[in-house]
Amino acid sequence: MARRLSEDELEQIKGSVDLVELIGQDIALTKRGKNYLGLCPFHNEKTPSFNVSPDKQFFHCFGCGKSGTVFNYLMFQKNIDFMSAVKEIAEIGNIKIDGLEEKQSFEKPHQRLYDIHHEAAIFFHHLLVNTEYGSEPLEYLQARGIDAEIIEHFNIGFSPKGQESLLKKLLIGKGYTEIELLESGLFARNEQGTLRETFFNRIIFPLADEFNHVIGFSGRTMDAHHPAKYLNSPQTKIFNKSHELFHLAEAKPVVRKTQEVFVMEGFMDVIAAYRVGILNTVASMGTSLTGAHIERLSKLSKKLIFAFDGDSAGQNAIYKALQLVNQKIPAEVVIFPERLDPDDYLKKYGDEALVNLMQHARSSQVSFLIDFTKSQYNLANEAEQLAFVQKMLPIIGQVKSIVAQDVHLTQLSELAPLVSKEALIQELSNGQTRYSKTNTLDRLQKKQTNQNNLVRLSQLEQAERQLLARVLEKPTVLQELIENQAFNFKHPIYQKIYVQIIAYFLRHDIIKVTDILESLENEERSVLFEISSLELDDEITDGEIKDLVAIIEKQSLLDQLNQVIQRQREAKANGNFEAELNLGLEIIQLQQEIQK
Ligand code: GTP
Ligand code: MN
Repeated sequence: MARRLSEDELEQIKGSVDLVELIGQDIALTKRGKNYLGLCPFHNEKTPSFNVSPDKQFFHCFGCGKSGTVFNYLMFQKNIDFMSAVKEIAEIGNIKIDGLEEKQSFEKPHQRLYDIHHEAAIFFHHLLVNTEYGSEPLEYLQARGIDAEIIEHFNIGFSPKGQESLLKKLLIGKGYTEIELLESGLFARNEQGTLRETFFNRIIFPLADEFNHVIGFSGRTMDAHHPAKYLNSPQTKIFNKSHELFHLAEAKPVVRKTQEVFVMEGFMDVIAAYRVGILNTVASMGTSLTGAHIERLSKLSKKLIFAFDGDSAGQNAIYKALQLVNQKIPAEVVIFPERLDPDDYLKKYGDEALVNLMQHARSSQVSFLIDFTKSQYNLANEAEQLAFVQKMLPIIGQVKSIVAQDVHLTQLSELAPLVSKEALIQELSNGQTRYSKTNTLDRLQKKQTNQNNLVRLSQLEQAERQLLARVLEKPTVLQELIENQAFNFKHPIYQKIYVQIIAYFLRHDIIKVTDILESLENEERSVLFEISSLELDDEITDGEIKDLVAIIEKQSLLDQLNQVIQRQREAKANGNFEAELNLGLEIIQLQQEIQK
């Protein structure tokens, strides 16, 4: 039985891993004020509202409301329970605590399915490198330039044919059931009802998730005439093809640094890039690229680079991918000449040529679109030149950089010589409002809400927020306020938070923002997070607290006064003389109080 961990032990584990670093492995974070800001990994969003506070070691998403500590982060991200998250953090942070290592009942869901894949990967690899079964496939791999180091690195294996399923024997021997074997996708029932291996006589590439857990396999035939060149694991409980990306676990740390990720078509291409030292590469596995893939990558990287095959299928696939990207994130394209794919290109032109092409010969997505689209028009024909220009102008209109726009207009006028570049520029600026209408509207609306926010923050509210922020910083400020019996925050939400802080302080004698955050509900939690992230002067100046309290009291009276004046006007308009008089007395009283 697992014992309960003490508060101290939990604190020690929590403190062993830096939250910014942990989250920074999954999404791109930018320093913004006291916090780091990025696109929320837990819901779809285009403008970042996911905040990570390095001081508090606490994250909070203003969009979906998810927030918490390193433990909560792992719980959401991996869909695991609290103790599993604690264990994983302890592991990452290299903290050894007695009783924590015992196998506990908190396994991740589908753990046994992961285990089967792990066992199978080891087994296939063993057959390839250590047994006679491996001789032909090793020869094949060698001929393709895949040496022992690459075989180890990618954990490549082999599943032979005509064997009395060794894999099945191994797995059943280890206690897995037939149902589990079927669930893994590594086996299927044949007509006689017996289990049969999915992969035979194929070179096996393990497919891993972003944490490097094997979740599926792809098998390549060595027979050049086989109709199915690659065979992939079916979709299973742990293998979602429209989400997973090959090589993501390894690409991630490099993508984090370079903020660029290459998207390729096949894993042979990813391996080719690895051979020349380019590691920030991924490929989809047995499906074309989906919106979910793009979404995932754009959270990780500021730029996508498509390095698809140079044949027309590859170019069509880039076109489709760019439709998915839809200029939401910068994208570039590497064009492989002579219809080659990256792997063929490496073989034909060598390491240096591949690096050069991938790193230095990229075209922008708009250049690609111009080239791609032009083949659909007969540009010898005047009407088609115009149609082509009409099709491309809105796309060029969306390019942010004026310099880049100019380059594209030159491209366009060269392809459609009947239309002068001057005419294009004219047309573009005429069309500008039309083409970028949605963008402009978006921008305007955004600005407006920002301004509204500022306006809505009256002086009263600003003072209340600053005071709360100071309360969080120093217990003495809180004590000072508690002693001032009459003091209340005027806005109910700040008052509610204030009361929570008092309650916490009375119980613990200290103020720990993260704990209070955890005890609050959605909206209050968001507000407190915001307030605790306010950038104030480091030092609390003499009299600052008294001044803030005075502003709050005075502003609150002014607000009341305005309300009463408003009501008095209404009474007057309605001819209610008595009410008008009473309200008049109230006004005088309030004015006197304000004078004090
Ligand atoms: P090599 O021919 O071994 O160099 O591989 P490649 O990367 O050039 O393969 P290709 O460009 O033909 O295919 C790219 C990707 O599509 C592969 O990595 C597979 O994921 C997938 N794929 C290719 N052929 C098949 C197939 O016959 N069946 C399935 N399901 N997927 C395939
Ligand atoms: Mn190839």
